[in-house]
Amino acid sequence: MKEAVLHDSSILVDVKDLVIKFPVRGHREKKFITPVDKVSLQIKKGEVLALVGESGSGKTTIGRALVRLLKPTEGNIVVNGNEINDYKGKELKNYRQVAQMIFQDPFGSLNPVKTIESHVTFPLKKHQGFKGKELSEKISELLVQVGLTPVNEIRKKYPHELSGGQRQRLAIARALAVNPQFIVADEPTSMLDVSIRAGILQLMNVLKRELNLSYLYITHDLASARYFGDRIMVLYGGKVMEIAESKQLIKKPLNPYTQLLLAATPGSESQINLTDMSNEPPDLTEGRLGCPFAHRCPLATDVCKETMPSLNETNQGHFVACHHWKAGTGSLS
Ligand SMILES: Nc1ncnc2c1ncn2[C@@H]1O[C@H](COP(=O)(O)OP(=O)(O)OP(=O)(O)O)[C@@H](O)[C@H]1O
Ligand SMILES: [Mg+2]
Repeated sequence: MKEAVLHDSSILVDVKDLVIKFPVRGHREKKFITPVDKVSLQIKKGEVLALVGESGSGKTTIGRALVRLLKPTEGNIVVNGNEINDYKGKELKNYRQVAQMIFQDPFGSLNPVKTIESHVTFPLKKHQGFKGKELSEKISELLVQVGLTPVNEIRKKYPHELSGGQRQRLAIARALAVNPQFIVADEPTSMLDVSIRAGILQLMNVLKRELNLSYLYITHDLASARYFGDRIMVLYGGKVMEIAESKQLIKKPLNPYTQLLLAATPGSESQINLTDMSNEPPDLTEGRLGCPFAHRCPLATDVCKETMPSLNETNQGHFVACHHWKAGTGSLS
């Protein structure tokens, strides 16, 4: 059993210098990519950290590491004061009661031959010890809590008899059945019809308030990150580019990459001129040098190609990694 480490009790998830490496197939000499490269983050109890960045930037990989579906290569993940990096066996099983993950495709994570009721029965019985009448009442309570009503009809149905939105609600109910403190929601609305996306986000927001849940909310969509996230972290090529309170990040994005993301959001007033940029994806090879955005950035100079900028605090709680951030003038140069 690992000893609890001293920590600030308002922080639930504390990640320091997380590195995830994967071997690259098809090479004679051993080669690796590091899609997560020295990422540090903290999530407070009852806080939502939205993680945004384009495809392949390492968002899902971070999420999988935080719920320990994946073992970190390097770095430290502390949850509730406990180091979870090396959990296995019983410790890992117990950790499933603390942290749960909700996936993009609700259908893929449900069992087609099990009724709706049995999806939540097992975790309620096993992790929370409910049985008999109490178990039945708890199932109803949980289904009502996620908006799956009328309960008596829904209980006996199978996943294919539900709509996409209802399936995602069931996935949420199943995650809640273990009474977790932390949920990684990996693009939970991106496969759903636009008209029902808001309902799922609203549900997660209500659950956050009622249960004091913490979330890592992974999304491509800055508008929903702003709505649901207390803070937003911007990732590019496995590195943190910027992190700030949501309103602040949208109002005053400092990193050129964040400005690009905002410019791509419909209705944006961002003025950044990025016409010359290539669409090349970032280099993820192990040991790469410089800022991962340098090859696309209109401000890039030699130093950007050679050295990764450190993450500097520019304003209270607003951090940016960019060589062109001028602390004295409060602008990019
Ligand atoms: N198990 C794995 N083995 C090898 N490479 C992997 C593995 N999982 C992810 N990768 C690679 O790591 C990189 C980051 O992937 P990840 O799924 O974390 O990105 P993402 O930001 O979630 O992208 P998306 O927005 O498309 O979901 C990609 O290049 C991916 O191919
Ligand atoms: Mg992903």
